[in-house]
Amino acid sequence: MIKIENAQYDHLEAILSIYNQGIQDRIATLETDEKDFDYIKGWFLGRGERYSVLVAKEENEVVGWASLNLYSHRCAYSSVADLSVYIKRGDRGKGIGKILLKGIEQAAKEQSFHKIILFTFPFNLAGQKLYHKMGYREVGVFQEQGEMDGKRVDVMAMEKLLEV
Ligand SMILES: CC(C)(COP(=O)(O)OP(=O)(O)OC[C@H]1O[C@@H](n2cnc3c(N)ncnc32)[C@H](O)[C@@H]1OP(=O)(O)O)[C@@H](O)C(=O)NCCC(=O)NCCS
Repeated sequence: MIKIENAQYDHLEAILSIYNQGIQDRIATLETDEKDFDYIKGWFLGRGERYSVLVAKEENEVVGWASLNLYSHRCAYSSVADLSVYIKRGDRGKGIGKILLKGIEQAAKEQSFHKIILFTFPFNLAGQKLYHKMGYREVGVFQEQGEMDGKRVDVMAMEKLLEV
């Protein structure tokens, strides 16, 4: 059974390892350099209280995580959160993403966010299936928005309005 809980410092090694799998797979992020523990520690400890990180655990092992991230420093956008979600290789396609997104949506509502946005690759079909299933709508595609391994790649923006 999958259990969702707030991430703790002790979960950071697992969060880092799952994030690095996403980087290696070249389907989730424009980042191409794998991260080290100092990076993930800074990411975790440097985030504001509103910006939750949740982990999904199966038999006490972290198999995925999701986070609400700062979208913009501008006050006018303080009710918009940016989303990340990563599932361990080998545990993808088992419904864990859906469970995590339900949890992170609840956390976003509790922190009075009005909207969740995300950026994904048009070729990340698993991601899009998950987001559409969870009620996100495609805003549009930025053409040649990012660079990855020396190539320009398109990036899709998606959003979900929350009933707070
Ligand atoms: C994208 C990701 C988060 C999806 O999470 P998941 O736990 O694998 O997804 P779920 O099992 O909850 O599936 C959600 C829906 O997507 C579908 N889906 C999952 N994997 C799929 C795949 N490889 N191809 C097509 N559809 C897929 C499921 O069938 C499900 O739809 P259904 O309810 O109609 O069956 C996960 O695959 C992952 O971590 N990938 C690598 C990192 C990543 O891409 N993160 C997102 C960055 S934008």
